[in-house]
Amino acid sequence: MDSYIDLQNIGTEELGHVDLDRVDVYGSPPDVEPQRQYYFMAKCRQIVKSERERLGRPLYACIQTLGCQMNARDSEKLTGILLDAGFEEAAEEVADFVIYNTCTVRDNANQKVYGRLGVLHGYKRRRPHMKIALCGCMMQEASVVEKIKNSYPFVDLVFGTHNIFKFAELLYTSLVSDRMVMDIWQDTDAIVEDLPAKRKYPFKSGINIMFGCNNFCSYCIVPYVRGRERSRKPADILREIELLARDGVTEIMLLGQNVNSYGKNLEQPMSFARLLREVEQVEGIRRIRFMTSHPKDLSDELIAVMGDSKKLCRHLHLPLQSGSTRILQAMNRRYTKEQYLSLAEKIRREIPDISITTDIIVGFPGETPGDVDETIDVVQKVRFDNAFTFLYSKRTGTPAASMEGQVPEVSMKQGFDRLLHVVQDVARQQAARLAGQTAEVLVEDVNAHDGSLVTGRMSNNMLVHFPGGRELIGQYVTVALKQCKGFYYMGERKAPAINDSI
Ligand code: SAH
Ligand code: SF4
Ligand code: F3S
Repeated sequence: MDSYIDLQNIGTEELGHVDLDRVDVYGSPPDVEPQRQYYFMAKCRQIVKSERERLGRPLYACIQTLGCQMNARDSEKLTGILLDAGFEEAAEEVADFVIYNTCTVRDNANQKVYGRLGVLHGYKRRRPHMKIALCGCMMQEASVVEKIKNSYPFVDLVFGTHNIFKFAELLYTSLVSDRMVMDIWQDTDAIVEDLPAKRKYPFKSGINIMFGCNNFCSYCIVPYVRGRERSRKPADILREIELLARDGVTEIMLLGQNVNSYGKNLEQPMSFARLLREVEQVEGIRRIRFMTSHPKDLSDELIAVMGDSKKLCRHLHLPLQSGSTRILQAMNRRYTKEQYLSLAEKIRREIPDISITTDIIVGFPGETPGDVDETIDVVQKVRFDNAFTFLYSKRTGTPAASMEGQVPEVSMKQGFDRLLHVVQDVARQQAARLAGQTAEVLVEDVNAHDGSLVTGRMSNNMLVHFPGGRELIGQYVTVALKQCKGFYYMGERKAPAINDSI
């Protein structure tokens, strides 16, 4: 029998290769991270193994993600830990361990969670050993946590965004306890590197480059639930990308609430544009995306890097929120309508084939139909390739929640419908311009509705469906864009797959 492994003696970079079945789980847990979490993964593994033997079947875990790309990436980390703990992944919520990674940016995201909890309670009555966990942004709100304690006592584990790196330890605590385990931190400076992650796609991945947000847009709850802005060190980011590239990833998306302010608070400050230049050097990476850019911090240096890069995708998501300078000011966005327009114009001039998408909120306190007209004017002038439009949702604790002039729902909806009509019209016209051209497409999946088609993404983020088989998944293919269907294309493959590096 091989000897036990003492994690205290294992370097951070080797942890991913450690055989967890050989870890010494009888000594005390390491104090340092991430070694401590690997220790608890090994402990969970023992429990899961004995449960498997008792039940005569694998144990299944289901991870449900709500919210943005950052939450999606967090869920990949949760999945990595659950798999290392010995669970198998299940798509259905009828599982042994179900975790909801929640979002609270708008109230409908919260309502969805409460609705699902009702359904899960039904499952749990029939399978009492089932564990239900909640994590993510919604759990950072005191009122939510109160409600869960009082009205959903069947939930087994609750934790927030700041201590997600402790998931293995919390999972262990929950597996050996009959009571609700709850651990919410108010804030953290910690960035724990080198925990496992299981990617949804083998060929593409999100990478956090920063956490939190310092902007405090007056409607937004994110700074309160994700904490202050913290950038990861460039060396850590580059190392992660190099490892991903070695593992077959060719498309990456750099993630942060405001990537344009990346690096400002590092010991050795570094601009986002410079980080991009370094990321570009990583061999094997063909496409680089990033999200989200705040207009107030988008530099000329970044536009220049995008302009002459072959790897940076022809897509920029640049949230507008409103086209009315008065509303923008009340939103604390720190740019005017004119500044946004001239920024968008400069970007289109310097990078002619770029696709610009945006987010818009309708119904912010004090917004009049005239303000909506201003927003519509910006949509028509910038000619957004796509826009996500949201009804304003009041978030308790944000400055906007207590502002005068809260807009009645009917007026909000009227403004929303007016805007949506223009947004869709413009997006359709923008998309139609590509008809007859060819595009390089990264194939992502077999088409969900028609198995004879595959679905891929162009550099500008638009989807294309075309005849092809599963073997194309993860490959770059040249596709003729035949028919525009509004927001996506039907195409035809032109040339064989080209997977050589550029
Ligand atoms: N950090 C990003 C986006 C974060 S949230 C940025 O600054 O753009 C994603 C989008 O949700 C925002 O762009 C905004 O349009 C929308 N949003 C945020 N808070 C909202 C609220 N209270 N009501 C409605 N939409 C909101
Ligand atoms: Fe919210 Fe504004 Fe921060 Fe985006 S930049 S997360 S909208 S506070
Ligand atoms: Fe939602 Fe949190 Fe993202 S509130 S939008 S999941 S940062």
